[in-house]
Amino acid sequence: MTALKNDRFLRALLKQPVDMTPVWMMRQAGRYLPEYRASRAKAGDFMSLCMNPEFACEVTLQPLDRYPLDAAILFSDILTIPDAMGQGLYFETGEGPRFRKVIDTVADIEALPTINPEHDLGYVMEAVRTIRRELNGRVPLIGFSGSPWTLATYMVEGGSSKDFRKAKAMLYDTPQAMHMLLDKLAQAVTAYLNGQIRAGAQAVQIFDTWGGALSDAAYREFSLFYMERIVHGLIKEQDGQRIPVILFTKNGGQWLEAMAETGAHALGLDWTCDIRGARARVGDKVSLQGNMDPSVLYANPQAIRAEVARILERYGHGSGHVFNLGHGITPEVDPAHAGAFIEAVHELSAQYHD
Ligand code: CP3
Repeated sequence: MTALKNDRFLRALLKQPVDMTPVWMMRQAGRYLPEYRASRAKAGDFMSLCMNPEFACEVTLQPLDRYPLDAAILFSDILTIPDAMGQGLYFETGEGPRFRKVIDTVADIEALPTINPEHDLGYVMEAVRTIRRELNGRVPLIGFSGSPWTLATYMVEGGSSKDFRKAKAMLYDTPQAMHMLLDKLAQAVTAYLNGQIRAGAQAVQIFDTWGGALSDAAYREFSLFYMERIVHGLIKEQDGQRIPVILFTKNGGQWLEAMAETGAHALGLDWTCDIRGARARVGDKVSLQGNMDPSVLYANPQAIRAEVARILERYGHGSGHVFNLGHGITPEVDPAHAGAFIEAVHELSAQYHD
């Protein structure tokens, strides 16, 4: 394997010294980029982009060709797992993800097949291998998956939801059914992420986008418990390199101490918590990734720079911080503003490192 030319991102996740704070953006390949929209038009639709390793590689590299980002993230989606389990994922224009088959009953859960990533999600593994080859050591590649709870919400609701009525009804009405579903998903996610690591992913992130919609007790029992099991089941090292694991629970600020006990190397923070307070709470256990409000990118470059400066100052001196947005970049953002953001992180962060 080619040696990494820029390993700042991996070093920060492992709290090793860096020259400046590394930065990448959640959803960095996406509709705010005209070149992404052109590739998607060429491929036909979103899932065709994901399922064709050459296209997936092309759009993964697009933001890296534009900006000096410190990491690449696999272009795919968290809903590839339910799709591989036979739920039939499709995207209705302007309406987000939908499934042809929805999970309603215990029998539906029992019927879900066990996933073999090389066989059932071979297109993702092939995309990882293609991207690693084309990156040629420029920056590390991040693999990812949804958390079992977040995947379960889409599988039970049949798509996106505002209130998670069906998923929460199952959780409270028949908790053993929800546990059976989450158990199957935790096994699938573990195998999927290990497949990505074997194929070349150099760090992995678990997106728990909807964990923050749960009560404290339900979060610990139905989301965190399964993420911890996944962390313990992941390959620790590949080609002599540690594989850092990042846990991101959106709206999860109140659970940082518990998340830091899972064995993950880093926690993703949304913008609602203060990163200095978060650092004090987790101590040396984990690194932190975040946490600028993506809406700051609607403002002018001077305002973006000021917000970057504020967050860097709040984190303070030393390694252990990966700069990121607190959630995905939105389609309406001006690409020049994303550029100003990345440049500001690099320029303003050097003073916090020896
Ligand atoms: O970060 C990256 O650049 C990598 C690619 C990536 C996508 N989805 C591509 C995508 C990643 C990491 C995801 C994760 C994902 N997908 C999550 C967790 C992270 C989060 O944002 O909270 C969730 C909840 C999903 C499910 C999903 N996929 C939804 C709700 C939607 C529709 C909403 C939307 O943004 O359009 C998608 C589609 C999707 N996934 C798009 C992209 C670029 C947009 C598809 C398009 O081109 O129209």
